[in-house]
Amino acid sequence: MKNTVSTLLKQKQTGDKITMLTAYDYTMAKIIDECGVNAILVGDSLGMVMLGYENTLPVTMEDMIHHTKAVARGAENAFIVADMPFMSYQVSVQDAVINAGRLIKEGNANAVKLEGGAEVCEQIRAIVNASIPVVAHLGLTPQSVNAFGGFKVQGKSLENARRLIDDALKIQEAGACSVVLEGIPAKLADIITSKLNIPTIGIGASAGCDGQVLVYQDMLGLTIGHTAKFVKKFANAGDAMRQGITDYINETKAGTFPAQEHTYSIDDDVINELLKEEKSE
Ligand code: KIV
Repeated sequence: MKNTVSTLLKQKQTGDKITMLTAYDYTMAKIIDECGVNAILVGDSLGMVMLGYENTLPVTMEDMIHHTKAVARGAENAFIVADMPFMSYQVSVQDAVINAGRLIKEGNANAVKLEGGAEVCEQIRAIVNASIPVVAHLGLTPQSVNAFGGFKVQGKSLENARRLIDDALKIQEAGACSVVLEGIPAKLADIITSKLNIPTIGIGASAGCDGQVLVYQDMLGLTIGHTAKFVKKFANAGDAMRQGITDYINETKAGTFPAQEHTYSIDDDVINELLKEEKSE
């Protein structure tokens, strides 16, 4: 059954943890959806894990629409959330509504996600007024990497922690249907979760959040190089892929691939006739 805003809210109320993973293409969306994940995030992390950028800042609306469309074709039941890329909502409320609308109309997303607290409440209110569900994102918000001076845990000082609690209450009041809490201390995530009526989805936050989200390349062991402390590797798909590709190279070079079962047959009569014709030419 299709997961909706109401499904996620009910999960918070009943204590049934929300599962969310990122996906950026049809095949992965189909696999993740078939496993029964509640929500798929087409994150602007695609800039890093799919396009090879250093951070999420260069991602465009066109990138997001292209990948969201593919995910929507693959996911039947998961609630699809598409990220609003950097500068698609910060400049004006009008921009925010137009761009959120594009992710729904052209990308076939069910909701949009944007980063920030009090400073984006006007945008959240206007997008929700256009009947588009909004997931907020607080804490270590990657689009603020330059302002933070790196990917740093947020909310450690009293002032910062107070501000995050205040932001969470404000985005809820503005109409957000859920909030991603990224890179904040576990005890702070627990306080925020207990104060909100909307579900919190943690990444580098706390098991006490109403749900969790991870980037699929990280949790399947596909990420090359450093991963954040909060990443748990649930599988080693990278090694399985490397082994498969190496076997393909070796068997192709040895001439053992393709084997007979991978090839198509033809009637001997046809071949004999062809060979006769070849000889007589
Ligand atoms: O872009 C993304 O994948 C995200 C998650 C890390 C929450 O925003």
